Amino acid sequence: MNNPFKQIRWVLTAIALLAVGMKLAVAHEQETGVEVKPVREEKLANVPGQSLTAITVNYAPGGKSSPHQHAGSVFAYVLTGAIKSENSATGPAKVYRAGESFFEPEGSKHLISENASATEPASLLAVFVAADGAQLTAFDTAASATPAGQDLAHQILETMIQVHGVKAGHRPVHAKGIVCEGTFTPSADAATFSTAAHFQKASVPVTVRFSDGVPELAIPDNSPDAGPRGMAIRFELPGGEETDIIAMSHNGFVVGTGEEFLALQKSIVATDPSKPHQWPVEAFVASHPRALKFVVDNKVIPASFATEAFFSNDAFIFVNKDGLKQAGRYEILPVAGQHDLSDAEAKAKPADFLFDDLKTRLANGQVKFRLVVQLPNTGDPKSDPSLVWPDDRKTIEVGTISITSAVADSAATEKSLAFDPANLTDGIDLSDDELPALRSEVYALSVKYRHQTQPAQTSTASATANSK
Ligand code: HEM
Repeated sequence: MNNPFKQIRWVLTAIALLAVGMKLAVAHEQETGVEVKPVREEKLANVPGQSLTAITVNYAPGGKSSPHQHAGSVFAYVLTGAIKSENSATGPAKVYRAGESFFEPEGSKHLISENASATEPASLLAVFVAADGAQLTAFDTAASATPAGQDLAHQILETMIQVHGVKAGHRPVHAKGIVCEGTFTPSADAATFSTAAHFQKASVPVTVRFSDGVPELAIPDNSPDAGPRGMAIRFELPGGEETDIIAMSHNGFVVGTGEEFLALQKSIVATDPSKPHQWPVEAFVASHPRALKFVVDNKVIPASFATEAFFSNDAFIFVNKDGLKQAGRYEILPVAGQHDLSDAEAKAKPADFLFDDLKTRLANGQVKFRLVVQLPNTGDPKSDPSLVWPDDRKTIEVGTISITSAVADSAATEKSLAFDPANLTDGIDLSDDELPALRSEVYALSVKYRHQTQPAQTSTASATANSK
C-alpha cells in the first residue's frame, strides 16, 4: 500500500463500513411502562442466516412505545389485557384482546404500540424472524430526534447508540472486553506527587477491563477496525472508596471537544456506503487531521494486551501535601515492552487472540504495567486531549499495576462494572480539560441505557472471549 491516497481511501472505507447498516439500538427513553423479556432465540437451520427470537412485552397501565420499525417479520399474540396497535402495512389502529394476534411484515412501521387500558396491565408474545444478530427494534429517527435544547451529553449518547453494530444491553463502544484483577503498588515518588490514597505506601486491589474499541461484540481482535484498545482501571481505596482511570491505546484523542465528538458520531450515523463518495464521515476525517491520524494509527494490531501502551489523553490535576497543584496525563506502559504485529502476523491470528493470549499469560504469571504521569512544559495545551505533548516531557513514575488473573465470570462482571472518568479521589482533581466531566455524564447515560435494554443476542465470539 505505497500510494498514500489509496491508503487514506482504504482507511476511510474501513471506518465508514463500521458506521452503517442503520440497525438502530433500542433507546429506552422511547418506551414508557414497557418491559421486554427475552424468551427464546434459535438459529433457523432451514433458513440459513435467519433467527427466530421470541420475547414477551409487558405493558403497565397506559404503557406505550413511540413509533418504531422491526428487523424482519413479526408475529404478535396478545397474552393478557388489550393492546392497541397500528402497522403501516396492515391497516388502521385496532385494539387486540387476549387470544388475538397481529402480523407486522418486513419493512413496515409499527406506528402505535400501547396498552389500550389506563388501569389494567397487558402483555403480548412477539416472535421475530430476522437476520442473525439483527437489532430487532429501531425507533423512528424523526420521532426520536434529539429534542431541541437537550444537553450535549444526551445528544452524544443518543447519537452513539445509532451507530451500526451497537447492541442493546452492551457498551456502545469498547463492547468486547475482559475483566481482570490485580494490585497497584505505588512507587517511592508517588506519595510526594499527590495525596491520593493509593499513592501512599500500601498496595491496593485493582479491577481492570481490557477491550477492543468498537461497538461490535464479535469484532475479530486482528481486524484493522478493532482499535483503539481500552484499559479501564478501578482502584479500591481504603475505607471502601474507589477511583478510576480510563485509558486507550492511542496517545491523542480523536477530537478535542464534546461538540466535535458529537459531530463525528453524527457523520458516522449519516454515512451510507451505498451512496457515492464523499461520505459524511470521510468529510469529517478529511477536515480533522488529528482524527485521520487517529484512524490510521489504530489500524496497527498489538501483539498482546500485555504489550500495549495506554494513555488517558485527558489531563488531571495532582495535588501534594503542601497543596501544590501539577497538571498531568496518565501513561500506562507495559513492563514487557510495546510490541505490534506485522500485517502478515496479524492475519494469521485467530479472532479472539488478544483475549486468549492474556489468559495464557495470566496462567503463567503476572502481567505488569508502569503507571506514569506525563507533565506538560509551560505553554503545552492542557485543555485539548487531541493535542499530544512531546515525548521529551518529564514523567513521574507513580507505581506498578500487576494483573494476577481474569475474573471467573467476566461477561457477568462487566455488565455491572461502570467506569467513570470523573470518579477521582482527594489529591487528584479535574483540570481545565472539560472532557472528563462531559464523559462522566455520557457514561452514566450509557450505563442506564445498557441496563434498561435487553440484549437481542449474545455474540458467540464475545461469549467465547469472555468465558474461556
Ligand atoms: C467525548 C469523549 C468520549 C465519549 C463521549 C465517550 C463515550 C463512551 C461511552 C458511552 C462508553 C461506554 C460506557 C459504559 O457503558 O460503561 C465509553 C467506554 C469507554 N471509553 Fe470512552 N468516550 C470518550 C472519550 C474517551 C477517551 C478520551 C478515552 C480514553 C483515553 C475513552 C476510553 C474508553 C474506554 C476504555 C471505554 C470502556 C470502559 C470499560 O471497559 O467499561 N473514551 N466511552
